[in-house]
Amino acid sequence: MFFRTKRTTMLRVNLPSGIDLHCHLLPEADDGARHISDSLEIIRFMKLQGLRGAVCTPHISSTYPHNTRYSLRTGFNTLLQAARVDGLDITELTAAEAEAPAESFGLYLAAEYMLDRTFLKHLAAPKQLLAIPEPLVNQTSEFSARRYLLIELPQYLLPDNWRDMLDSVLSIGFIPLLAHPERYHALLTESELLELHENGIHFQGNLGSLTGLYGKEAQYLALSFKNRGLYNAWGTDTHSADMLRRIAAQL
Ligand SMILES: [Fe+2]
Repeated sequence: MFFRTKRTTMLRVNLPSGIDLHCHLLPEADDGARHISDSLEIIRFMKLQGLRGAVCTPHISSTYPHNTRYSLRTGFNTLLQAARVDGLDITELTAAEAEAPAESFGLYLAAEYMLDRTFLKHLAAPKQLLAIPEPLVNQTSEFSARRYLLIELPQYLLPDNWRDMLDSVLSIGFIPLLAHPERYHALLTESELLELHENGIHFQGNLGSLTGLYGKEAQYLALSFKNRGLYNAWGTDTHSADMLRRIAAQL
């Protein structure tokens, strides 16, 4: 009898659940993977690194008006099918699969919502929101109906009503999961970001921030938030296999 050993890599070690909770591997949806072959290259590398799944988080914003729940679902199904044809053992992760078997690779479809002028329109149709179920975020196998909405802030200028928009997420029953808060140092001070966390905004960190991929300020904040135990989700935010290889090599 032989035992399958789980590969331990720095990427795997730094993603405690074995699931990349933020990546742009869905093809032809945004500025991430362009073709299905790019997506498959990312998945193969993730598997090689010992990951057991990824949550696809394509951008939903005014820059990508064609991205809807329906169009992204269609692209996601096409990707699942292409991966299987290519011989990859891929399953669709479900909310109850925090303890999914390590042999196959699981994908889940969510999205990364930009806090822009289109955001409230999306909130007005909560059933259409592509959110992340709590067990995938918190590695719990207990039943939970709680869902996280991955939200990013604009790079340079916040809309006037941005705090109200975050409050609206909470009021319709979703947990706001702020994507890479460490990268917003041009918009908000460290204490303003800490205040957000105190007010129920959860944090998702980018692994690349820890190694300086986004500059010294983002690295400082990432280490500060990590040392305070403020992140409850991690992701690569990878847009390509090359980017993912670079992140993995620097960890
Ligand atoms: Fe992203």
